[in-house]
Amino acid sequence: MTGSRSTPESRPGDPRGALLGDRPGSRTVTATGDAARAFLVALAQGLSARRLYGADHPRSRDSVTAATGRAKALLAESRRPVFSLLGAEVVYGDQPLRDPGPVGLAERLSTAGVQRIELRGAPTEGEMATFLGELELALRAAGRPEGADPSAPAPGDVVAPTAGEPANLVWGALRPRDSEHGGPAGSRDGDMAWPGPGAESSGREMPDLGVELEAISWIWDEIRAGRPLPLVEAEGVIRSLGVVLRDLPPGSAPRVADPGAWSYGPLHAMHSALLAMAWIREGGGTPAEIMDLGLAGLFHDVGLVRVAPSGSFEHAGSLDASERRSLETHPLEGARLLLASDARLALAAVVAFEHHLLPRGGGYPAAARMGPTHPASRLVQLLSAYDALRSKRPFRAARSPEAAREVLRSGSGRLFDASLVAEFERFDFELPASVAPDPEGVTNGGQAGRHASS
Ligand SMILES: [Fe+2]
Ligand SMILES: [Fe+2]
Repeated sequence: MTGSRSTPESRPGDPRGALLGDRPGSRTVTATGDAARAFLVALAQGLSARRLYGADHPRSRDSVTAATGRAKALLAESRRPVFSLLGAEVVYGDQPLRDPGPVGLAERLSTAGVQRIELRGAPTEGEMATFLGELELALRAAGRPEGADPSAPAPGDVVAPTAGEPANLVWGALRPRDSEHGGPAGSRDGDMAWPGPGAESSGREMPDLGVELEAISWIWDEIRAGRPLPLVEAEGVIRSLGVVLRDLPPGSAPRVADPGAWSYGPLHAMHSALLAMAWIREGGGTPAEIMDLGLAGLFHDVGLVRVAPSGSFEHAGSLDASERRSLETHPLEGARLLLASDARLALAAVVAFEHHLLPRGGGYPAAARMGPTHPASRLVQLLSAYDALRSKRPFRAARSPEAAREVLRSGSGRLFDASLVAEFERFDFELPASVAPDPEGVTNGGQAGRHASS
């Protein structure tokens, strides 16, 4: 071990002990769901009135009044209502809405880049009208044809407050939490105090990632057994990996060269988390952003734990048609699992859902391709592909670092975001790390991804 990582309360005999941290504060939203649903219905009615009659028609103005009233009713119930929209799924505060109301609204909005709606205070009718206009613009932009004005709002990267500060109605793409709002009550800054770019490394002994890998394998076992996703332990893993990275030069990440009997699934999850964290750290990411990108990397393939619980895709032969179909459900399965677990995993859910969608269309889930994917999804797609290419699998040998980079270059723009591929050249993800042999001599967490980009 590196000896410098934080080791909160430890439980004797519990492999998670060294990784446990304090449970962060939870959101303050208390949801009955009725007021939330009514608010979404009012938004849907306001949008359809604008579409049918135009913004200045009395029906549209009435719908603005109604939506403003629904917003105030929601604020009477919750101090800061937040909606996360992902496909047809809606999470209100920490609670998935079983019946999110207007059919298709969440799906249309989320694919238009409106993945998060937050009420920060009681809106005026003017603010509500502006807000509905912005949603309408985002929906139109999502449907724009190829070659349309590139300066128009692009889904996935729009975060547009309404006029005036502070805005009471805020919407945008799901994004890493920041320390100002939306994050846990306890600041993580103290947990992960990152040195700035160019900071001196405090030591270069080879890191041992055995504790983290064991904890991830345990998390995978919990999920496979149908028990709740252990988020506290997952955050502990990310925090601990953060301490490992802190001892390394910015722009670099460790890689376990010889995993012994450890299986690919948890190892791929750990490497993907490390790469995403190193990338965002090098770009000056805040501790909360590093945490969220780490969780997104860690859980991007978590759907495979459900789709292939016994690692059934890890064999030397080709996948048959039914295995292929089954494999391609893992993004949706993963997103569902994460959304149902905790609102703090909203970004991880987006990444799980989108990490096999391609920059110019295609990929899977097939029906989901409607606009640019989230920047975090494009990042994890690239980095997890690099790790997959560098890993030995039953059906192929590991590629060398240069051969893996060449695969990324050759897929630039087609399989991977071209600007990320170009940036990738600056990073060194090959610092050697070790893990102790699997203590039980078994392939823990057997599931793995069977795809070149995972
Ligand atoms: Fe995947
Ligand atoms: Fe993957």
